[in-house]
Amino acid sequence: MDEGTQGHDPIVVMEDITKRYGEVVALEDVTLELRRNEVLALAGDNGAGKSTLIKCLAGAVRPDDGTIRVDGEVVEMDSPRTAKRLGIETTFQDLAVAGNLTVTQNVFLGRERASGPGGLFGILDKSSMRRRARELLEELEIGVDVEEKVSNLSGGERQLVSISRTLLSDPKIVIMDEPTSALSVEGAERVLDLIDRMQAQGISIILISHNLDHIRRAADRVQILHQGTDAGVLDGATVTQDEIVKRMVAGKPSSEDERHAAVD
Ligand SMILES: Nc1ncnc2c1ncn2[C@@H]1O[C@H](COP(=O)(O)OP(=O)(O)O)[C@@H](O)[C@H]1O
Ligand SMILES: [Mg+2]
Repeated sequence: MDEGTQGHDPIVVMEDITKRYGEVVALEDVTLELRRNEVLALAGDNGAGKSTLIKCLAGAVRPDDGTIRVDGEVVEMDSPRTAKRLGIETTFQDLAVAGNLTVTQNVFLGRERASGPGGLFGILDKSSMRRRARELLEELEIGVDVEEKVSNLSGGERQLVSISRTLLSDPKIVIMDEPTSALSVEGAERVLDLIDRMQAQGISIILISHNLDHIRRAADRVQILHQGTDAGVLDGATVTQDEIVKRMVAGKPSSEDERHAAVD
């Protein structure tokens, strides 16, 4: 598991993040490091704090304490807009696609293009949106018709559309909260293939997943959370199911140095 002298080059460092909801401590002093161009899986039992942690990075939740650095700079992640401006896009756990709209309409939802100089006429530029959506899906090798209504797509295809939305703005970092959890084997396979291609395009990815096969297939490293605390980081290629489960259930072994994870 020793990566030797290879540079770590973190693109995101979240340090000592704490978030409470009344009596509930959702996160306590959690640290997460995302390295440039890696797929970092975030694992943990239900209620471990996975969604809360990535919402802090996406600007959807304000932590009570802790710092977030992007490209070495401390940032105030005060809104989703700030996160997007920094090149961070997110697909949240509750799949946000509108069934009654087409694939193109979903990809552009909330950022429709208007026609005329500078969108002056306020008329939706449907053909340009359709063209861009088609281009995007082709580039990502997603075999879905952009004029199809999303309600006619399979669960896996909907997830692919939801992920494509995040790629419209050419982000540096994409966070996906349980993108494969509700999918068939085939649907999950297509999403995992897309994650491979996104990584090949240079994107740094945080993948929240419960599925240990998916984690082992996709992740370079695995960050584990246990009841809102940091349960350590393991190497994605060599980690065993047992090791992940042990930490999900019992947290970080006390023998492990506080400041240095298993993969350093
Ligand atoms: N908006 C909220 N209000 C109150 N409690 C919350 C809220 N969001 C999350 N929690 C609590 O914080 C803890 C972590 O939740 P969450 O981040 O959703 O975990 P995970 O995604 O790992 O299942 C849980 O105990 C959950 O009930
Ligand atoms: Mg969650």
